[in-house]
Amino acid sequence: MKGFINATIVTPIGKSAVKGTAMGCLTTINNGAVAVSDDGIITYVGDQKAMPACGETVDLGGRVLLPGFVDSHTHAVFGGFRPDEFRMRLEGRSYMDIMNAGGGIQSTVDATRKASADELLHSLDFFIRRMSEAGVTTVEIKSGYGLDTATERKMLEVTAKAKERYAGRIGIESTFLGAHAVPREYAGRTAEYTDLIINEMLPEFRGLASNCDVFCERGVFELDDSRRLMEAARALGYNVKFHADEIVQLGGAELAASLGALSADHLLHVSDEGIRAMAASGTVATCLPPTAFALREPYAPARKMIDAGCAVALATDLNPGSCFSGSIPLTIALACIYMNMSVEETVTALTLNGAAALGIAHRVGTIEPGKEANFAVLAFDSINFLPYYVAMNCVESTYYKGQKIS
Ligand code: NIG
Ligand code: FE
Repeated sequence: MKGFINATIVTPIGKSAVKGTAMGCLTTINNGAVAVSDDGIITYVGDQKAMPACGETVDLGGRVLLPGFVDSHTHAVFGGFRPDEFRMRLEGRSYMDIMNAGGGIQSTVDATRKASADELLHSLDFFIRRMSEAGVTTVEIKSGYGLDTATERKMLEVTAKAKERYAGRIGIESTFLGAHAVPREYAGRTAEYTDLIINEMLPEFRGLASNCDVFCERGVFELDDSRRLMEAARALGYNVKFHADEIVQLGGAELAASLGALSADHLLHVSDEGIRAMAASGTVATCLPPTAFALREPYAPARKMIDAGCAVALATDLNPGSCFSGSIPLTIALACIYMNMSVEETVTALTLNGAAALGIAHRVGTIEPGKEANFAVLAFDSINFLPYYVAMNCVESTYYKGQKIS
């Protein structure tokens, strides 16, 4: 058994998403202690005076001990980079213009089809190291740069390999996003490509991904194809997730809520009806502020969603196009400074609610007995440093299942 003492423990509580303004209620234990079993599960949380005897003890000197961060939305497996496209956007071209002209997602698809599985795995290593340094102990990784059965399988197999390779360092959740764009070969035949996903890819990838996602967007997968696809995914046992209302207001949030989706993500242009639907359902509203920042778009209305009773999560959207960032510190800064979230709400959004957006809140996301001992230790004694040290990393060390990994 391992013990952590002299900790300022700050954590949300529970095994499911926290909705509405309750997101701001965190439990704080000063002079706290945590005991962890040899297999990395928390066995005690509380006053250090009542701490059970432990072999090894880590003295945190009053520093904040948070649940490890959950980055519940990334596209971290991909081939190639798109810096030229970023320059084009700086010069005034829009994301969708570039995509419709054959760039954007399609250009990453070309590079990902050419890349070997080893090359993809190798480039992921770079990102995993940075995630660990920033206190991330669980990451979701989507496929979606293959858009054919063989390359989607290759991407999902790379994620499965990463899951094994990093088993002692970070938890990885896999999401199938075959409906990320309509591939060039199917231009103008979205329904046929949707049929291919439903009839061939979904049944084949059941053992490789627990979630299925769709880019539900005007001119990409409209509501009817998205619904058809997600009903089929659900029937095969996938959890469903949506890229919803990112570029225009289409009603993706409403559709996600009506299908019992784990989450609807982006939501820059979500409608009031969509907010009501998510608040009434268990669908987590996931905001990705670095993407809005990088695209110079307005931020998702997180304040309004929390006040309306939604469970809001925050994630980075790390990808080679719309948001080549993956920065947790930037995510926190933008959420607090521009989206009017409180520091406490951002902590809940990046831990327990992120876990709920992946369907794993029963085992990660809080510091409570029975959960995995995944921690981000700050260099400071207060969570107020998270936004105050603007867009800089406050995390001094990261523990995954009780082991120090950064
Ligand atoms: O979440 N919107 C669709 N997908 C990604 C962007 C992917 C890309 O540009 O490569 C997103 O923003
Ligand atoms: Fe995304």
